[in-house]
Amino acid sequence: MGSTQPRGELPTHAREELRALVSALRTRLEVEARRGPSGAPARPTQRKVVAAAPTPLAEAEAAVAEAPSWAGRKGTPEGLRVVREDLGECTRCKLCTGRKNIVFGVGAPDAEIMFIGEAPGRDEDEQGEPFVGRAGHLLTKMIEAMGLSREQVYIANIIKCRPPENRAPEPDEVAACEPFLRRQIDAISPRLIIGLGGVAVQTLLRTRTGITALRGRFHVYQGVKLMPTFHPAFLLRSPNMKKPAWEDLKQVMAEMDRLGLARDRSKR
Ligand code: URA
Repeated sequence: MGSTQPRGELPTHAREELRALVSALRTRLEVEARRGPSGAPARPTQRKVVAAAPTPLAEAEAAVAEAPSWAGRKGTPEGLRVVREDLGECTRCKLCTGRKNIVFGVGAPDAEIMFIGEAPGRDEDEQGEPFVGRAGHLLTKMIEAMGLSREQVYIANIIKCRPPENRAPEPDEVAACEPFLRRQIDAISPRLIIGLGGVAVQTLLRTRTGITALRGRFHVYQGVKLMPTFHPAFLLRSPNMKKPAWEDLKQVMAEMDRLGLARDRSKR
């Protein structure tokens, strides 16, 4: 395959990834620093902390993968608060001019399961909360059918501000916003992610493969297993696709049961 980047330089996507990983590690370190000595890890660990500074991509990935373990705790509200504070009244991309509210994300800071959609729509922009419109109601039903509640999981989008006319997020918007999603994931440390819809999953996995080919098997995003499935808005338009979507969720439920994660197991 041909490559246009100068010799010795990382390709753009790898640089973006590295920047996001370092940013996630920074969040973790800031949380640790704010906790102070009383926040010492609950159990000692043999693992070595890898410095975040300029390291090859693989080392940075390893550092982030290690961070939740050496921190000894996962999913405190403090981690998310730091990310929200850093996001501030964001003006990093053009979507800031048209939004009513930043839609940061909602749910448990220690959620085991995270749902990631595309972008806020009109209802979400009005209310500042993801998936509150018609598609959101279907998502809530899907969550409950899995033996979970909306409060138990965490729900976010790739971008946090509504695009005009609900168009797909543009690359500069994703580039500005995705690092914050990555930091949210790092702060929450979910065990499993469900990617909702083609645009969200293609953006996360850096692929052009369609959702029909991607769904039905686990992938990995930021070291976390990710199950792609159809977007609830698509399911509202194509109810015959609810069955395959349910098959995807059943795989997630089976994985949850295998990992011993809490859910109402009468749902299967
Ligand atoms: N669609 C999405 O992808 N996200 C929302 O929050 C609402 C609708």
